[in-house]
Formats: sequence, structure tokens, C-alpha cells
Amino acid sequence: MIFQPSPVFAADASNPTIERIQSKGEIVVGIPPYKTPPFYSKGSDGELVGYDIDIAKKIAKSLEVQIRFDRNSTSFNNLVKRAGNSEVDFAIGKLGTTYNRLYNAFPHYYMSFRHAFLIDRKILALAGKENDCNQPLVMDIRPSPGFEGSFFAGELRLFPHTELAWHEEPPTFIGMFCINTGEENECQTISDSCKVIASLPEHIITWLRLKPIYFPSPKHIKTKGFTGNIIDGNTVRINSRDIRNNWAEEAEYFLQKLMDFEEKIYFKTGDFWVFDNRIYAHGRPKLSSKTKRHLLRVYGK
Ligand SMILES: [Fe+2]
Repeated sequence: MIFQPSPVFAADASNPTIERIQSKGEIVVGIPPYKTPPFYSKGSDGELVGYDIDIAKKIAKSLEVQIRFDRNSTSFNNLVKRAGNSEVDFAIGKLGTTYNRLYNAFPHYYMSFRHAFLIDRKILALAGKENDCNQPLVMDIRPSPGFEGSFFAGELRLFPHTELAWHEEPPTFIGMFCINTGEENECQTISDSCKVIASLPEHIITWLRLKPIYFPSPKHIKTKGFTGNIIDGNTVRINSRDIRNNWAEEAEYFLQKLMDFEEKIYFKTGDFWVFDNRIYAHGRPKLSSKTKRHLLRVYGK
């Protein structure tokens, strides 16, 4: 929360800032020009909503004045400067206090955050141990040049796949937590298999439902792999690793469609995302050999 450089804000009617706001009957509140739910964004009716908006409205109510939101700032820093220049009565928004901003206005913390990885305690107790898929439940993924993708945490392109397609019971959910982003433009991809299947010709769908594919396990995993259908009831099982050269053209057609439907997910440090491994195939473009990308991954039933 950023105040203009006048005496400290307090619920005290003798305060000149308060008196000035009350005498004009209106408080002008600067909001960053972005949308950051749950702090500030526009609701379905076009009105601003969020924690910050609620706080600002309560201040206006306690001062018994009207409220007007100003979203004319061009950036966070511009908003801070405008608050310092008295262009707004105060500004509120999810932004950090930096050294320079202390010169531009009087920022006050009203909320503090810590990045967190929410996880079931019972699962956490197993961290570091291997599950029945011979995979650590919480896996540290830091790509290393020269290694293969996926399990070896390499840097190569990962084609759309569902996790542990070669296991009889693949995980239902996958959670990913970003400790460190990679190079600019590095991302994950996700393909909605429901959309893909809806775009397929009937004979391809029939083939995917009825013709089993052999999904070999990676060489370092001592299981025999799994033979099953790519569309397995309501679950999609896909992994082109090591078999793409001699699998059926219908399987290749499906893989190509998954690539056509890939959507990019960009993430920042602290972001956590979860997806359904039965429906969404995931992958990624090739990473830079210099990437500093660091993710944690967890499987959920
Ligand atoms: Fe994967």
C-alpha cells in the first residue's frame, strides 16, 4: 500500500491527509494497470474485485467518503511515483517494496507471502523414497546437458506424453513446483486429449481404443513395460519414447495431433501447477544447455 508523502495515514480526523480527503468527499485509489486475482481484477460485471479492492472500500467507508479507482498508471513503478506526486490519494496493489520505491512514496506492507509447496503430509513422509513405479514421489528435476529427457532430467525436446504410460497404474495427478525458471521463453507444454480426440476421424479413435501398444519402460527401470490401448476407458496413455520409429501410423497421427494442440505454460519461481495425467499430455521444447531451470515434481493418486 503506497501513500503520498504527507504525514502517516491514521484513523485520526486531525490528520491533514484525512481532512483533505474528507473535505473533497472522495478518495482516489491507484490500482496497478494489471489484473492479479485474488487481489485486483475485473469481475464478470466489469467491476473491480479482490482483496485490495475490499481493503480500499473499507478505508473509504471508515472515512465516510466516495471511492474512485484510478487505473491510469502505466506500471508498478509509475503507480508508486504517482502516489508520491499526490496524483492519487493512495495506491494499493500486490507489489514489493524496493529500495527505490522508498524514495518515491511511503510504502506500507499489508500482506507478506512465502512461496509454498502444498502437499499431503503422508506423501511428504515418503519423499526421497521410491514408490511402486521406482520413481521418487517428490522428484528434483534439474536438466543436465547431454542427458536424455524426462527421467534423466535432460535438456531434449519432450514430445507430448502421459507420465508412466508404461506402468499399469500411472499417477492420476502431477504437481509441478518451480524453484527456478530457465532461459527466457523456456516453457512446458500441455495438450488436452479431449480436444484432440474430438478432432480425430472415427476410424482413428476406434483404432486407438482397440489396438494395444507396447509401452516399454526406460532402460534404467527394471519393469517389463505395459501393453495397452492408447485410449484406455477415460484415460489416455501415450509415450513415444523409444518406439516411435516402428509404431502404428494411427499412433503417430495421434501424437502429431497432440503436438498441434500443444499449449505453452510459462512459469515463474514459486508457481505451482497441477494437471490430470489421465487427460492432459505434457511435454516441452528443447531446453538450452545453459538452462538453470529447476522444478520439483510430485505424483498424486
Ligand atoms: Fe513427463
